Amino acid sequence: MLQHLDLHGGETVLDVGCGAGQHFAALRTAVGMRGRVIGIDYSPGMVKQAQELVEQQGWDNVEVRRGDASQPALEQPDLAQHDVDAAIATFAISAMPDLYAALQNVRDALRPGGQFFVIDLCLVPKGPAGIVVRFLGLCYRLLAGWTGQDVLTALQETFDTVQVIRGGRSWVVIAVATTGRHAADWDGGGRRPTAAPPSPNRAGGGASRGPGT
Ligand SMILES: C[S@@+](CC[C@H](N)C(=O)[O-])C[C@H]1O[C@@H](n2cnc3c(N)ncnc32)[C@H](O)[C@@H]1O
Repeated sequence: MLQHLDLHGGETVLDVGCGAGQHFAALRTAVGMRGRVIGIDYSPGMVKQAQELVEQQGWDNVEVRRGDASQPALEQPDLAQHDVDAAIATFAISAMPDLYAALQNVRDALRPGGQFFVIDLCLVPKGPAGIVVRFLGLCYRLLAGWTGQDVLTALQETFDTVQVIRGGRSWVVIAVATTGRHAADWDGGGRRPTAAPPSPNRAGGGASRGPGT
């Protein structure tokens, strides 16, 4: 995961749908003591577990917050100012009923050029493995609230570039989505314009695809 994010130390990284905080240690190592890790999760139980981990480890640059990623600014008003350098979501956004709202909120929290690393399920119930895939989908739906939405397409429609590292249309998709590089895309207050120019992805180009798509 970390090799795909441009982290050198001192960054603020968001873990969206952080669960019990299994990525905190790695993210904290990547951003160093000057950096900050913020985990957000909707579930009070997960937030409690993640907070316990942070307290046990004595990590003073890791914060855990309760918030719904599909609500404006992920319910974190201080993150709506485009000052997050990178974000990750592992097996989390496909569990969010309003996937497009969640992706837009992550995008809004990221600074221009900020990267969003995603691992998620892309279960396509076709071909000889179709029955197995449908069964896996049912299990994941019951256990983790998976919605069956097409995460990759939603990423491509929301972000400026999407690099598929593995998967694509197979079971697991791993991708890095990036916001526009230029601060000029934003207004003087650092906010994205309300009438944003159409994404190159929506125009049918711009998304770079890796192997396996
Ligand atoms: C399958 S778990 C993955 C947890 C963690 N990312 C991991 O890889 O271990 C999905 C997580 O997404 C969280 N989640 C689901 N919908 C959410 C939402 N709308 N906002 C924030 N978190 C959400 C769930 O509470 C759960 O902790």
